[in-house]
This record gives sequence, C-alpha cells and structure tokens, in this order.
Amino acid sequence: MEQLVALCKQRGFIFPGSEIYGGLANSWDYGPLGAQLRMNIKNAWWKEVVQQRSDMYGLDGAIIMNPKVWEASGHVSTFHDPLVECKQCQHRFRADQLTTKQCPDCSGELSAPREFNLMFKTYVGPVSADASPVYLRPETAQAMFVNFKNIIQTMHPRLPFGMAQIGKAFRNEITPGNYIFRTLEFEQMEIEYFIQADTWEQHFADWKKFMLTWARTIGIDVDKLHELDVPQAELAHYSQKTIDFEFDFPFGRKELWGLAYRTDFDLKNHKLDYTDPIDPKNKFTPHVIEPTMGVDRTLLALLVSAYHTEKVNDEDRVVLKFTKEMAPYQVAILPLSKKPELQKVSQPLFQDLLKTFRCNYDETQSIGKRYRRQDEIGTPYCITVDFESLNDQQVTIRERDTMQQIRLPINKVSDYLHDQGL
Ligand code: GAP
Repeated sequence: MEQLVALCKQRGFIFPGSEIYGGLANSWDYGPLGAQLRMNIKNAWWKEVVQQRSDMYGLDGAIIMNPKVWEASGHVSTFHDPLVECKQCQHRFRADQLTTKQCPDCSGELSAPREFNLMFKTYVGPVSADASPVYLRPETAQAMFVNFKNIIQTMHPRLPFGMAQIGKAFRNEITPGNYIFRTLEFEQMEIEYFIQADTWEQHFADWKKFMLTWARTIGIDVDKLHELDVPQAELAHYSQKTIDFEFDFPFGRKELWGLAYRTDFDLKNHKLDYTDPIDPKNKFTPHVIEPTMGVDRTLLALLVSAYHTEKVNDEDRVVLKFTKEMAPYQVAILPLSKKPELQKVSQPLFQDLLKTFRCNYDETQSIGKRYRRQDEIGTPYCITVDFESLNDQQVTIRERDTMQQIRLPINKVSDYLHDQGL
C-alpha cells in the first residue's frame, strides 16, 4: 500500500488534500492522471448502463435536497453508527468495529455507545439561527426515487426500467481512513431498477452477473473479488437482501460495491406509484434492485489490480497494467531528443494522434527513464521518434507489457493503434 500511495503521489494520480496548509485528514485531491482515470471509469459505466441500454435513463440530481426526503427515506431516524469515545485520549471509534473493550490507542476506558447520524448537516440562508437545516446527500439514490414520476411522465417507460446516476455523496464517517477507501466525500455510480415484486430474484441475479462482468471488463482482478451475503442483522434499513462485493485490498478484505433488493421501501415512503399503461386500473408500487458502486473504491481496486513489479536486466520495473480503455494515457510520443528537427516529426504526429487517443508528449531525460515513467502510469504504447525517422518516415512503437518494439511508417500509426483495440 505504501508503494502504491508513493507512486500515486509521485506520478500525479492522488495528492493529499490542502497539502500546502498541512493537509486535512482523509481528504484527497486527484491529480491529472487520477482525474482522467476517474473519468474513464465513469464514462465506461455510463456507456454500459445508460447509453447502450434502452431500459435505462440517466439523471443528475441536486446534492442538497428538501430535508423531508431524508425523513421519508429513513436516513434521519436510522442512518446511524454506534460511536464510543475513549475517556482518556478522547479518540473515537465505531463500537461495531472494535474487538476489545478498551481503547485500541491507549487502553483507556471507553464510553457507552451512542448512535451518531452520518449525514452532514448544514444551513440554507445567511444566518444559521433562523436558516433552514439541510443535509448533504449521503447517497445519490434518493434523487432517482423522488424523480420517479418525472421520468414516467417524460420518458413513458414500461416496467422493468431503471435510472442511473453518478455523483458525490457525503458521510460524516467516525473512522475514515485507508487512503481513498473511506472518506467523508466520495462519488457513487448508482442504479435504481424498478420491477414487478415477483421478479426480484431474476433481476437480482442479472445485475449480479452484470457487476461481475463489468469488474472483469474494466480490469479488476476478479480473483481478489468475493461475494458476501450480508447477514440479516447487518442489512441497511431499506434492504431485504444485500450482496457486498468485497475486494482483497492490501489492508484487508473490504466492501467494494453493493447490490441490494430495496423492495418498495423508498417509493412507498415517498408515496409514489406506477400505473400499468396497458391496464390503467392496475396501480401498484414497483420494487427496486439497486446495484451501487463507489468511484473511489473502484479506482483503488483498479490501481491494486494493475500494480505489477518485475525484474528486467536486474532492475525493478513497476508497471500499472491498466486495460487500454482505463489507462489515463493510451499513447506516449517520445522524441529521442529535444532537437528541433525531431520535433518537426514528433509534434505533428502528437497533434494528429491527440484527436483520437489520450496522448502524452515527453522529451525530457533519457529514453530509458521515460519508458519507466510511462510504465509506471500504465501507458500501453510508447512511440519513439529517432534520427532515422527523418530519413525513412518510420517510428518505433513499444508495447507496455511485452516491451516488444516494432517499426512502422508514420502514416500507418493511427490504423495500427486502432487495430490494437484503442
Ligand atoms: N444507495 C446505497 C448505498 O449508498 P452503501 O453500501 O452505503 O449503499 C454504496 O454505499 C457504495 O459507496 C459502497 O459500496 C462504496 O463503494 C461506496 N462508499 C460508501 N461509503 C463510502 C466512503 N465513506 N468512502 C468511499 N466510498 C464509499
């Protein structure tokens, strides 16, 4: 984990939040590479679950909603964690995560557990005394439930159909930590799939299959992925059945994604129902299957899955073996030197490839060091422009994983990259 965190900082994936002011606990900023990787995850998800399906509708709801939403959803009364505090060092812990009766930090006596609501509360209005309290959403899901009628009236879908949303969620976690695994703000990719009650098992199985297939497609190491049937006593207040997809992170096996059968809990509480367009006398409350995936945990699982080290000529080579779709840069253009005559060839090639591929141009340091840098950020193809290129109009293309090199005419490069699946 330490090596991964160091690499992510050094290569521009993830920086500590507010670093020049000493940082802020559990806050992280995504640098150029991390921001692109997040974008690639979200784009792949949106393409798969919205763009390529006729039964799914996208949504981008507000983060701050009417507080009545959170009363109806049960979050005001039940979205709690049990908090205990050390009477000696005042450190706080989640009672359900402790294995001892004493403070794990100083062995001091712990207070009795009290319920702590995870929602961040804030105020709308300039003076907090007379302003209305509101919450930062703890899940994106509710925006989809409260827009159920709007989708029916504008898109006229037939059951089964679903809604999908990507957006930030906020939780005042008692014990955030493990890098970007548990943070106070994070992003979710959520689906609410509306169904007839008696079909829930089939849809649950279908979405489970989808999640496993998608994990493999984006490059998550599925040998590290495990299903956990969440015991009845630990189910969220809205769920009748939940499967957690757990992942073997370097700090242990932890929840990556979740799949829940939310029944008609939410639509019923928001007093929303559905009229069968074929039989308008048939009015009922649809049930819901909810596949939910955190963007940040997905990114961390991708980094862990992609991270490889190997020995090449007695030297350590670190490679992030991202898929071609996920790699922040797909192609690096590396002129052998900064000489203007080489730039005359490498710059037009770079400008041309930029239109189609995510490209990086690097002419600093030795070619060996530049290959190493591109391996460490997971760039699948490096193109070297050398002095020979000036005569024969050819370049060298190096493939990341095999390190094999081929020589190709410049005007064939784009077609070649397409043929490789870029
Ligand atoms: N709408 C259902 C829901 O929010 P959840 O299991 O509480 O379910 C869904 O959260 C996903 O959001 C998790 O599987 C995880 O990927 C991500 N997630 C939850 N809390 C998080 C946190 N504090 N930091 C980062 N990601 C988090």
